[in-house]
Order: sequence, then structure tokens, then C-alpha cells
Amino acid sequence: MRISILDIQRMKASGQPIAAITAYDAPTARLIEGADAPLILVGDSLGMVFQGQDTTIGVTLDDMIYHGRIVAHATQRPLIVVDLPFMSYKISVEQALTAAARVMRETGAGAVKLEGGTEVAPTVQRIVESGIPVMAHIGLIPQSFHQLGGWRIQGRKIDAAKQLLNAALTLEAAGAFAIVLESIPITVAKIITQKLSIPTIGIGAGIHCDGQIQVLHDVLGLSPRQPKHAKSFADLKSAIHGAVAAYVEEVASRAFPTAEHATDVDEQTQAELNEV
Ligand code: KIV
Repeated sequence: MRISILDIQRMKASGQPIAAITAYDAPTARLIEGADAPLILVGDSLGMVFQGQDTTIGVTLDDMIYHGRIVAHATQRPLIVVDLPFMSYKISVEQALTAAARVMRETGAGAVKLEGGTEVAPTVQRIVESGIPVMAHIGLIPQSFHQLGGWRIQGRKIDAAKQLLNAALTLEAAGAFAIVLESIPITVAKIITQKLSIPTIGIGAGIHCDGQIQVLHDVLGLSPRQPKHAKSFADLKSAIHGAVAAYVEEVASRAFPTAEHATDVDEQTQAELNEV
């Protein structure tokens, strides 16, 4: 049985930390499922870590549906949340409903995520009323990279911190089932977490959140630049470099492939072939 939004909410109620992580492809989604992560986000971070762009702004709804479907089909148990990408939900509520409906129908995901504060609350409410669970996302919202002036911690000053708290409460009232808090001070995240009954999932927001989310490529040590909020739990960059360099070297020196890596005809057919 798939983990539901209610299971995720029960984890907050029972004080069980929620370990969420991104995935964009079938092999890593299967490995993540095998490691018992309850929630996989098919994040629009794929624009940066998978497509190699500088921001998430170039990611399209079709991109999200393509990767969302792959991850949902590759897994049986984790809750799959798919990001609504840049400008796929901010033009009108109707546009947002159409985008969310496409994601749910075409991927098999269990929820969508969208970025923004009080201004997106009416949109969240309409999507939730239509039967689609929504995860909210406040703080450093990457789709607003240019408006925010870069990758900056949000909510450092009292007014900005109060604005974040107000946004979180408004999004909860609008029906969001959980909320990502990205790059906000530890104390601000702690207070938001205490004031909300829905789970807070932090990234660069400290230990007091109900759960954490990380970008898979950061966790694996595959990202070109490691953000401050990330920790590498492996060094796959070196491992992959070492493996591919060894392969290149063995092809160059004709050490690979050996006879065991291919199939041949029997000796008589060999002899006949040599006569051709
Ligand atoms: O796109 C993404 O991967 C995200 C997480 C970093 C929260 O939004």
C-alpha cells in the first residue's frame, strides 16, 4: 500500500521524523524505496541537477510529467509528490487546476507541490477542494530566484519572519497537507513547526522541523556545488569517475572485454567461417 498524506501527517502527530528526498528516474527511485524513505519529491530541482540548468525556471510541465510518471511507476510504497513548475499555476486558478489535474492523471503521483506564500493560498484551496493534495513551499522559493535576488536565506528580520509564519498559517488553513520550509532561520522554522498542525519539511531550516528533504544528488555527493544546507552521505562523484576512467583505460588497453563478456560460435563454425 502506498503511504498516504494521512500517514505523513500521523508521523508529525507521533513525533516520527519524516525523511523525504528527491528522485527523477527509475533506478534511484527504486533504491530510495528500498531505503524506506516515506516521501519522494519529483522536484523541479531536476532542472538544475538533471538538466544542468542554472535555475529551475526552464523546467516545463511536460518535463515534470515525464519524470513524475517514471518515478511513480518505479515505486509501490512511498508517497510521490510532483512539483508544479514555474508559471504553471500562477496565471489563474483555472491554469493551476489544469496543471495539477494533468500531473495527477498522467503520472500516478499522490500530491503536487507549489511555491509561494499567502498569494497562492486561494489556488491551494481550489486544488485541494478538487481532491488533489497540495504540499506548500515557502522561504527560499527557487522559482522566484530573480525576484529574491539569488539564493538567500529568507525571514532573517522580524517582519520577514512574521510574514513567513502568517504564510504558513494561511496555507495550512487553505488545506495544504504539509509545507516545505526552505532556507529560513532555525528559530523561525521551530516556531512555524510548533504553530502548525500539518508537518513542516525543512531544507536548510534546522532540526526542529517535522521532517527534512534533500536533493538526492547532494546526498550522493554528485552535485557540482554542495549547498550549505546539504550533507553528502556518499562520494559518488569519485566513485563514478573512478569506474568510468577504469573502463576507458581497459578499452584502450584491450583488457576489456574478455571472452566471458560475449558469446562465440562453436569451433567447427569458427573453422568454416575462417574459410569464407
Ligand atoms: O525542487 C525541489 O527539489 C524542491 C526541494 C529542494 C524542496 O523543491
